[in-house]
Amino acid sequence: MLTSAAFLIRQPIEDKVNQLLSQMTLPEKVGQLNQINGFDDSARLRLQQGEVGSILNLNAALPGPNPSPAVIVEAANAVQRMAVNESRLGIPLLFGRDVIHGFRTVFPIPLAQAAAWDPATVEQGAAIAADEATSQGVKWTFAPMVDIARDPRWGRVAEGAGEDPFLGSAIAAAAVRGFQGEDLSDPRRLLACAKHFVGYGGAQGGRDYESVEMSVRTLRDVYLPPFHAAVRQGVATLMAAFHDLNGIPLNAHRELLTDLLRAEWGFKGFVVSDWRSVIELVNHGIAADPAEAAYAGLVAGVDMDMVSDVYRQHLPELVADGHLSEAQIHEAARRILRLKFLAGLFENPYTDPARHRSTLLKPEYLQFARQFARQTMVLLKNEQLLPIDGRFKRILFTGPFVHARGELLGTWNVDGRAEDVTPLSQAVREIAPTGHELFFVENTDEALHLAQHVDLVVALVGEHPSRSGENRNVSDLSLPPGQTQLVQALADLGVPLAVVVFAGRPLAIPHETRLADALLYAWHPGSEGGFALADLLFGLAQPSGRLPITIPRRTGQVPIYYAHKPSGRPVGSTTEFLTRYVDLPYSPLFPFGFGLGYTSFTYHNLEISEPHMTGETQISAEVTNQGSLPGIETAQLYLRDVHASVARPVKELKGFQRLELQPGETRRVTFTVSATDLVFTSYNDLPRVEPGDYQVWIGPNSTAGLQGSFTLDI
Ligand code: BGC
Repeated sequence: MLTSAAFLIRQPIEDKVNQLLSQMTLPEKVGQLNQINGFDDSARLRLQQGEVGSILNLNAALPGPNPSPAVIVEAANAVQRMAVNESRLGIPLLFGRDVIHGFRTVFPIPLAQAAAWDPATVEQGAAIAADEATSQGVKWTFAPMVDIARDPRWGRVAEGAGEDPFLGSAIAAAAVRGFQGEDLSDPRRLLACAKHFVGYGGAQGGRDYESVEMSVRTLRDVYLPPFHAAVRQGVATLMAAFHDLNGIPLNAHRELLTDLLRAEWGFKGFVVSDWRSVIELVNHGIAADPAEAAYAGLVAGVDMDMVSDVYRQHLPELVADGHLSEAQIHEAARRILRLKFLAGLFENPYTDPARHRSTLLKPEYLQFARQFARQTMVLLKNEQLLPIDGRFKRILFTGPFVHARGELLGTWNVDGRAEDVTPLSQAVREIAPTGHELFFVENTDEALHLAQHVDLVVALVGEHPSRSGENRNVSDLSLPPGQTQLVQALADLGVPLAVVVFAGRPLAIPHETRLADALLYAWHPGSEGGFALADLLFGLAQPSGRLPITIPRRTGQVPIYYAHKPSGRPVGSTTEFLTRYVDLPYSPLFPFGFGLGYTSFTYHNLEISEPHMTGETQISAEVTNQGSLPGIETAQLYLRDVHASVARPVKELKGFQRLELQPGETRRVTFTVSATDLVFTSYNDLPRVEPGDYQVWIGPNSTAGLQGSFTLDI
């Protein structure tokens, strides 16, 4: 079941865990289940008494906003020394931190990373983040976030891989591989944590922490697969989400945390709560008091309590009263200790104090961040404007992001620093070929004045990162106030206009799309985002990002996603009474999978090796670079199960391949589809493959491509 070598349960380790457990008192076992935030004198006392298993955000205890790397690692080692030398059994601490999209070298936000459609690059990014973070004493990250999100009002859409379970699963597995490697005891690797288990992205109204109502089928076919992929990859930990799913808060959801996760999937790691989410069971109204909350959390399968302190305060008394058996505590402690052994913490609890010097912001890490950011930006429109060349002598860059530094880092940049970022204005000055006269102006009046005297305007608009991420939901997906007016005013001048959008979510920008001659979606691109964008604008690299999430025309369309069910009255049928809006087209502004480059590709010669498939079939097509520049295309495979026992999505992504093609070059892409790829959750909520007809497409996005069909004969 578990494929990663990192997670093989090795007998010598089990013996060590058992031996250690046999020496532990009940409060010491409970101590392993307790995670605290930061560190102070009272924490030291707890630690000496063996009442702390993990510390989150040790940095929070350090004075000043930006402690030096040397101070951080020294503090981690000092606190670890207390745990090892001053507690009775000397059990080392596990230091956790949100290393979400890079550490000191910040990569594009996770949603942008998904737009690269390149799991190998995501894996490399996670490995670099692990190297940097471990050099600062961190051994556990609360990433990857693998929540599917189909409602961009939800601020946390920025933190995941978008709307699709197939792409999301590939990225989840890649991130886990990158963070953990093959050996958790490698001092340069981190324990990963797939979060937030599960369904969190389905929050009603896009409001973070709200209830989620969904069918078992949708849960199993859409929201669970990326978690399953992470577990198959050997992810060390999972985080139980804040919300209630169909009325049961995840922190009390035994059916999911234990029956599914452990019995069905064979998960061997441990489950951590989200921030205070165990005690929040009281707010959910399913626990009368903190003691009941602690009981419900532990019984459901939450092994470690993140910072609410309810396990430490109440589990011992719950055992003493006979509500819980010591064996139940024992099991949770065993899971945590096992990982501490696997992580090598007992042999090597300390961090090399010198390593950060040759690790943080290494030139090759910055170079990688630049290349990664280039891969994530999505060119959505280009009326022969980009790349910028000799046609444009005088160029004005304007808008709120023209000098942005920290704003490029995006949400969850706890260890990134604005001073490490080169703003676009400087990056453009450094890389633009000679012969252009460049202006960088933030002030709107001045920009409008200047715009009348230039050959090209590049408007840099979008969301500040404080508008996306946890608890940063919006009710309106338009650009923030004033920015549409700016784009309109610039367009009114009739000068060629390129619009670049920085954002943590898909924004509904139909008006801006019409006004712009070129539109590039840059997300929040990280430390090297300024250079990456400059590279693309001036044609030093090719745009190759593809949307991992649908861009709506208007907020009222959400949730909108490509893999919807067909409806009995679909758009395109003859009846007047269709699924639609009277005030808006049915289609999105830009579909899932969409993205342009500076060249164009055509698809031809679809072949299906087994039109009557029993075991597997190969589906292939030729892709040609039709243009005069080299380019990168992402060929996408979609399937539709035409008739089944339940309504199936109109299309589902089942494969993708990035191809780098020279002008005029043709290559055949081949995908193998087997019966297991056709499994879905049927009418009785059980997995099933059904014989019959399947439609298939290979193409550039979810709305285009060559179409064929095959029949599954079983
Ligand atoms: C978030 C988690 C995060 C945790 C620790 C919570 O508020 O939901 O995603 O890992 O805080 O910082």
